[in-house]
Amino acid sequence: MEKTYIIANWKMNPASAKEAQNLFDAVVQGVQGVENVEVVVCPPAIYLYNILNTKYNLHAGAQDCAFADPTGAHTGEISPTMLKNAGCEYVILGHSERKKYAGETLEIINKKLHAALAANLTPVVCIGEATRGENAAELEVQLQQVLAGISVAQVQRTILVYEPEWAISTNKNAQAATPEDCTKSIAIMGTILGKLYGDVAIPILYGGSTHSSNIQQFLKAGAHGALVGGASLDAAEFTQLVKTAAS
Ligand code: PGA
Repeated sequence: MEKTYIIANWKMNPASAKEAQNLFDAVVQGVQGVENVEVVVCPPAIYLYNILNTKYNLHAGAQDCAFADPTGAHTGEISPTMLKNAGCEYVILGHSERKKYAGETLEIINKKLHAALAANLTPVVCIGEATRGENAAELEVQLQQVLAGISVAQVQRTILVYEPEWAISTNKNAQAATPEDCTKSIAIMGTILGKLYGDVAIPILYGGSTHSSNIQQFLKAGAHGALVGGASLDAAEFTQLVKTAAS
């Protein structure tokens, strides 16, 4: 059976280390005994160190990393090697909110991807259009630029996410993609990957307004898991989502 990834992106939440620890502990407890799902929690970096020093049965990731590594004059940045040394296995790259609010370009995401792979992190790279509509050309441009210079061996250590900005729960008038949108976009991404790399098997997840009540439909639509924002902040709901994905 192929692996299913459920990746929690806490974004800029919660407001204190104590709340972060409580949420993490509740998730650790909740997903105990769940099999066949790789559960990854990506808290704000400031909470990572404490969280990683507790006993846990899931995987940890960061929400971003620097393109420079391992140290240097990059004020405000955290390097991939620092994340790896702290115990992180995964790093989300190119989330649409980083493109929108932090001015992150495809070129920068590409540099971060090279750095993350060199540090032996598993990158979780977000690809997706800002507004709903025909997206094949947009997905192709994004994939080509973000994956520039990435080898076949490296791309096989990468996870991709179809993450359309219009489907993110906190955006105005957000709506989850339909299973048809999801199937179609994942197929488009697969075709582009085929053109770039030949016959490779790379997990493609879906991200955008996923909940315990709709996760199954995205898995059935061909997603190899989900990047979960809002629903990952409620331990009971997130646990339910993971269990539903495992069933
Ligand atoms: P959401 O976020 O689950 O809150 O829609 C998903 C994402 O930002 O990728």
